[in-house]
Amino acid sequence: MILVTGATGRLGSQVVRVLRSVGLDVRCLVRKGSEYFWLNDTGSAYFFGDLRDPASLGRALRDVKQVIACHGVRVERTDNDHRRVNAEGSIALFEAARTRGVEHLVYISCAGVESGGDVPAFSSKRSAEAALVESGLAYTILRPGLFVENFADLARRVEANGNVFLPGAADTPVSPIYTRDLALMAMASLDLPAVKNRVVTVGGPEALTVGSAFERMCAANGLGTDRWQMPPAALRALSGLARPLGRRWTNHLRALAVHFAHPSAVDGEEMSRIFGIPLTGYDEAARAAFALRHPSEDATARDEKVVHRQFTATIYEPGTIAWEDLPAGPPPRRD
Ligand SMILES: NC(=O)c1ccc[n+]([C@@H]2O[C@H](COP(=O)([O-])OP(=O)(O)OC[C@H]3O[C@@H](n4cnc5c(N)ncnc54)[C@H](OP(=O)(O)O)[C@@H]3O)[C@@H](O)[C@H]2O)c1
Repeated sequence: MILVTGATGRLGSQVVRVLRSVGLDVRCLVRKGSEYFWLNDTGSAYFFGDLRDPASLGRALRDVKQVIACHGVRVERTDNDHRRVNAEGSIALFEAARTRGVEHLVYISCAGVESGGDVPAFSSKRSAEAALVESGLAYTILRPGLFVENFADLARRVEANGNVFLPGAADTPVSPIYTRDLALMAMASLDLPAVKNRVVTVGGPEALTVGSAFERMCAANGLGTDRWQMPPAALRALSGLARPLGRRWTNHLRALAVHFAHPSAVDGEEMSRIFGIPLTGYDEAARAAFALRHPSEDATARDEKVVHRQFTATIYEPGTIAWEDLPAGPPPRRD
């Protein structure tokens, strides 16, 4: 059994699909109130728990031999922040995995952890990485740079508004990675001696810049490239101004300043060679990522297909009980 944390996320849902496509047993860690209906057709098991609840992690890990940890915090909430989830939650997960005798844990970190200073999105991942290396578990730490989907998000704003603020420095070298390719790398890492107990910076097949990746994303989808560049210094200044709104936006802007300005280009051929997978070309990935709306943004599916059956820290195994017979849980969270 493989436990996937962050299974409802952008990357985690791809990881679940990739693992299930080759018939592996998968258990998704889903937190209370999260939307997960689009995973129903994968045949995965669910465990309803939370990284901030160490007891739930111990139970989620029963009979689990491998873990792919894709959890993260995009924008902080009052009680769900980088420290509690990325640092403390990850460390609790590693401790529970060690106690349960997990054989290999793949942790999705982030390029820039070394240079991110005290920016919580990066310092929290740095603490988690250090704890994992010290834990005694067999591990692989993957540090991806920007996702192709980040540029698809920017292109959607161009589509909606005619232009966009492009964060970071336009000439920053990057190798945007398609989340499906990253999911394949994470699966390959479960039993790849070359990456066992190693930290690997990963990326897609093409070395671009922030500016050229944005332009090619727009061109691949028939859009103009009108944008205002928002350099890191401007993002940091803005984060200072956002302080009265609370640390949520301050930390988000500070994270963007690192994400879009940290040089993260990799050798694409080396990536393919290490992981033994062909990587999707940027233009093809750009079209696919732009076309794919996250299922939780699909209003029709939300209304028609959402099944928010929830348990508190218990396991749903497909086939053991009819879906309709599950007890209804708390209403979905809409944050
Ligand atoms: N470009 C990028 O975005 C980028 C680049 C490099 C690295 N990364 C890293 O890649 C990983 C995946 O990114 P992503 O874009 O797929 O993230 P995402 O879509 O924001 O997904 C985050 C996942 O973590 C889960 N989560 C949040 N708080 C939790 C908690 N308290 N307990 C349990 N689960 C919790 C979320 O569950 P809910 O559905 O309940 O919210 C969601 O499934 C993250 O670690 C991120 O830092 C991202």
